[in-house]
Amino acid sequence: MKLKRRDLVWIVPSGIAATFFGWFGWRTVKIQFLKTQVSREPHWQRAERVKVGVVDEFDQPWSFRYLDYPLKRGRLPVVVLRLPQPVPGGLSVNGMHYAGWSRICTHQGCTIDYVRNLEAGAILYNYRADHPFFGCRCHFGAFDPLEAGKAVFGPPRFPLPRLLLEGENGELYIAGYETPLRPIESYRPLKTVGGKRA
Ligand code: FES
Repeated sequence: MKLKRRDLVWIVPSGIAATFFGWFGWRTVKIQFLKTQVSREPHWQRAERVKVGVVDEFDQPWSFRYLDYPLKRGRLPVVVLRLPQPVPGGLSVNGMHYAGWSRICTHQGCTIDYVRNLEAGAILYNYRADHPFFGCRCHFGAFDPLEAGKAVFGPPRFPLPRLLLEGENGELYIAGYETPLRPIESYRPLKTVGGKRA
């Protein structure tokens, strides 16, 4: 069949539409079904040792603390939780379980929030959970602390990088972080740390 110039009127828009829907479909599959699993053995990078607080301050499961952790390129917002059960990469001391994460969303670098009000979380983040989670307001991503920070909803695919926690004399410390410290040093690095250029 010989194509005529006027055939371009339908060939070009059809090609553009097919490309768009193909891309959109692939992206949806990646977001929904190809979320990266959390490794059971994190690769730790030891770094500055920073005190989080005394363990008694985390008086019950789901107690939390926000901090800024110093990096060479700036300060990394982080969160440390006491959890009701151990998670890979976390710390257990005297039957109590703790874990910490970077608060920089692995999607596009916004700062995630710790969401304890599940009803508000369902409305604000469009994600219904039966326990507290981490939510990102930029594109409604969610991460599950009980799955060691795995991305469980929305566009993020990679888990939140964990913090290396240590306990000593009833005190809790951050002694490093998991690598790659996405999105700061991933294979697709973004250029922000907590909203500032790294
Ligand atoms: S930056 Fe967090 S969901 Fe997009």
